[in-house]
Amino acid sequence: MGICYSSKPKPRDVPIVSVQKQHDTLEPARPRADSFKYDASGRRLHADCTPLSEDAVASDKLYVLPNDDEEMERLHMQHYIVRLLFGGNYSAPVTKRLEAPGAKALDLGCGSGIWAFETATDFPQAEVTGFDISPVQPGTVKRKNANFIVGDLTYLPLPFEDENFDFVYMRFLITGLRKEFWPVLIKEIIRIVKPGGYIELMEFANPAMQGPTKVPNLVAFMAQGVMARGGDPDISRKLKDYLASSPETTEVNEVTKPLPTCPHPSDTKAVRLARMYGDDVTGVLMGVGAALIAKGVCTEEQYPGLVRAHVEEMLATDHTVYWTRAFARKHGGLEE
Ligand SMILES: C[S@@+](CC[C@H](N)C(=O)[O-])C[C@H]1O[C@@H](n2cnc3c(N)ncnc32)[C@H](O)[C@@H]1O
Repeated sequence: MGICYSSKPKPRDVPIVSVQKQHDTLEPARPRADSFKYDASGRRLHADCTPLSEDAVASDKLYVLPNDDEEMERLHMQHYIVRLLFGGNYSAPVTKRLEAPGAKALDLGCGSGIWAFETATDFPQAEVTGFDISPVQPGTVKRKNANFIVGDLTYLPLPFEDENFDFVYMRFLITGLRKEFWPVLIKEIIRIVKPGGYIELMEFANPAMQGPTKVPNLVAFMAQGVMARGGDPDISRKLKDYLASSPETTEVNEVTKPLPTCPHPSDTKAVRLARMYGDDVTGVLMGVGAALIAKGVCTEEQYPGLVRAHVEEMLATDHTVYWTRAFARKHGGLEE
C-alpha cells in the first residue's frame, strides 16, 4: 500500500511572489459564498487552496488543511498544547512593549484567532490584528481590541506600512508556504516591525521520520506530499538562521521543547501532552483524509481505522517530537 508523489517540485511558470490588487484595501474577515469549497469527504477548505491530492505547481496556495468547525476545534486544542508545553503564548520578551498604550500586535495566519484573542485579553491597551486567508474568525463576539482581516501571505508586500507593529507572531504555516518563500516572507515581516519591536515564528520538526512501521505511516505520506509540492518540512530548524541573517535584527533566540510520546506515568503534565498530541495528529490526518484516499492510500471505509492504528502505534513507540520558537528584536527603538 503506498502513494507516489514526484520527489522534486516541477519548474513553476508563475512567480513566487505576486503583487495583487487584493491588498489595496484591507478586508474585514467575513465569510463570503466564494470563500470556501468542499472535498470528497465533505470537509470545508479555502476556495483557493490546492488539496494535497492535487498538483500545486502553479499555485502559491499550498495549504492543505480544512477551515471548518472541526478544524477550528483542533486548532484550539493545539493552541493549548503549545501553552502547556511552553508555559505561555510567546517566548519573546514582549510584555513591557505590549503593555504600553498604543501597542500593536499582528498574528499572521491566525486560524481561529485564539492567539489574537488571548493576546488582546492579556494586553487590553494593545490593538491586536489577526490576518488569514480564511475568513473564519468571529466577526461580532470578540474583544474590542482584536480585529481580523482577510489576506494572503503569498501576496507581497503585506498590506501594512513599514515599522507598524510592536510584535509580529506567526505559527504553524509549515504546510502552507514554499521553501524558497520562507526567507522572503521573513524579510517582509521584519519590514513591518517597529524599531525595537519583536518577531516570533513557531513551527514543529517533521514528525514523519519517527512514525509507525507496523501500519502505513500516514503522516509520512502527508509530509511527502507537502515536500513534493515545494514545502519545507525542516523549516523549524531554519527559522533562527533566517532571522539572524537580516542586518536589521538582534537578540536572535530559539526555544525548542521536547514532547515525548511515551512519558513516565508519574509525569502527569507530559502524559496529558502526549494524549493531546495524539488527538492533534488524529485531527490533522482526518483533515487530509479525502486527499490521501484520492492518492490511493486506502479506501474511505478503511481510513478512520488506519488513522486510529497510526496514532495508537505512534503513542506506544517511545520517541520525542520537537516544537520550536525562534524570535528576534528589530534594531533601534529606545533600548538602543
Ligand atoms: C495550521 S493553521 C495555524 C493557525 C494559527 N496560527 C494557530 O497556530 O492556531 C495555518 C493557518 O494559516 C492560514 N494560511 C495558510 N496559507 C495562508 C496564506 N497564503 N495566507 C494567509 N493565511 C494562510 C490557514 O488558513 C490557517 O488558518
